[in-house]
Amino acid sequence: MDYQELISEVYQEVNELDLRGKVADYIPELTKVSRNRFGIALIDLEGKVYGVGDYQVPFSIQSISKVFTLTMVFHKFRSKLWSRVNVEPSGNPFNSIAQLEYEKGVPRNPFVNPGALVITDALTSKFENPTQSIRDYIDELAGQHCVRINEEVMQSELQHAERNTAMAYFLKAYKNFDNDIPEVIRTYVYQCSIEMCCEELAKAFSYLANDGYSIFAKREILNESQSRRVNALMLTCGFYDESGEFAFRVGLPGKSGVGGGVAAIMPGKFSIAVWSPELNEKGNSVKAIKALELLTDKLKFSLF
Ligand code: DON
Repeated sequence: MDYQELISEVYQEVNELDLRGKVADYIPELTKVSRNRFGIALIDLEGKVYGVGDYQVPFSIQSISKVFTLTMVFHKFRSKLWSRVNVEPSGNPFNSIAQLEYEKGVPRNPFVNPGALVITDALTSKFENPTQSIRDYIDELAGQHCVRINEEVMQSELQHAERNTAMAYFLKAYKNFDNDIPEVIRTYVYQCSIEMCCEELAKAFSYLANDGYSIFAKREILNESQSRRVNALMLTCGFYDESGEFAFRVGLPGKSGVGGGVAAIMPGKFSIAVWSPELNEKGNSVKAIKALELLTDKLKFSLF
């Protein structure tokens, strides 16, 4: 399979469809990005990079960062983590608060915002300098210094963090939050404000295509069993209330962010990152999802 030809074909076909969506505006700074950006990077398990379009242009990774923080925490807490956060799809939007009340403060999964806040809280308990640790960890996964913080996006989200802050207080009321709330919110917003390009993101995700071993970090990041579980969570919960649709159309474990990025993996074969800022009503990139759908159609295989 010629991956370069494959992603170039996909890129061109998606561009011809002229799909439109809406750039996320609830974090005002995110609206400043050019809506026509579109890039794809695929990395095989030998570390070979295939790229097309804006695959080396950094963008706001937002919720894709939740996979990295989950990995950091899963490694430290192992199965103890699952008493604080469940592993079920939520069927609700990523920022829904209602479910937290009737499920007594245990978030449905680590990728909806309340679940990700529990993960960042757990991370805060284990790492002395959480923000620096997140940064170093992702750099190591990508095998290069690549993490940049977009200060404007960070300040913009901090000024509009009412909803996430409310969730954190709610979690605390159910005794599922240990650390200082403003501190954890700052760390969470920091991780969401990280900028990376598709190439760096695909490199950083490659351990999940390789049973937990990163060829860029040159070490085991998760054991094989933990790696399979993170992939299961991405498949069932990575796209919030569109996870079923993503599994149906694409059939790969993946994670989206409201910056318009999607990172996905094909176990034993490759990792891939796609970026285009315009989102559908579920908060997922319209073009990135279409690109991945065309990719697995052309490959004639997915997980299934
Ligand atoms: O907490 C938030 O709302 C954002 N920082 C991240 C949300 C996000 O990326 C959801 N994914 N599609």
